[in-house]
Amino acid sequence: MTASTLVSLNQVSKVFANGVMALDRFDLDVRQGEFLSLLGPSGCGKSTVLRLIAGLTEPTSGSVTWPGSFDADHRSEIGFVFQEPTLMPWADVADNVWLPLRLRGVSRKEARERIAESLALVGLEDFAKAYPRELSGGMKMRVSIARALSVKPRLLLMDEPFAALDEITRFKLNDDLLKLKAELNCTIVFVTHSIYESAYLSNRIAVLTPRPGRVVAEIPGAPEYERGSDFRTSRAYAELCRHVSQILTRNLADGSLS
Ligand SMILES: Nc1ncnc2c1ncn2[C@@H]1O[C@H](COP(=O)(O)OP(=O)(O)O)[C@@H](O)[C@H]1O
Ligand SMILES: [Mg+2]
Repeated sequence: MTASTLVSLNQVSKVFANGVMALDRFDLDVRQGEFLSLLGPSGCGKSTVLRLIAGLTEPTSGSVTWPGSFDADHRSEIGFVFQEPTLMPWADVADNVWLPLRLRGVSRKEARERIAESLALVGLEDFAKAYPRELSGGMKMRVSIARALSVKPRLLLMDEPFAALDEITRFKLNDDLLKLKAELNCTIVFVTHSIYESAYLSNRIAVLTPRPGRVVAEIPGAPEYERGSDFRTSRAYAELCRHVSQILTRNLADGSLS
């Protein structure tokens, strides 16, 4: 059975005002409940895809459609996590997490419970009153994730969220993210240029060509039964990484000839 489609990009092209064509007839379906990674080289249009899904930018041609019930008010059910935590330095952690709710007109008092819940989900319940400068890079990213979760998103868009972190912190946040997804039962579209990260996290990996970006391969992730606690050191994971790497390399080589 194929899971139902949450959002579809249909023949989407995006040309910026300076004439740069970021995407050319781009097709992608995001399925309900999946962890989908967009993997591709820098500048291939990954962030543009996320921004199109979030409605932060419009396609030059083609369409972004939301089949099913998600349609009516889908923007309020989307959480966005950027590459940098982008926290307000003058505000404490709780106030930072409040921001998206505040923008939706929810008072601090009304938001109190949601803020506490979101911080608990990322393991920062004891840091509500801390300021960003008092936190490590990994903790700041957790705050940024809690902020995206405060709107109870059905769709979480993550733009290279762990790229700036050291590997040990990144591995920990990868595991926490998988747990979080299981708990929240949401859909995640995750942008990365790391083969290893995409192979570790995803149910499905969409491999993009260099600009203008197009999906050249869709690779299924490892089945759930293989993704236990020692998945990272397993043979199945190593083979998946090798497979993804081969496809990416082949597609980069093709791109450089054209
Ligand atoms: N607002 C913009 N104006 C002009 N060019 C842009 C703009 N945003 C992105 N681009 C260009 O479009 C291409 C794709 O960008 P982006 O989606 O950020 O790629 P990625 O996230 O894969 O690195 C890049 O060449 C980038 O320089
Ligand atoms: Mg980007």
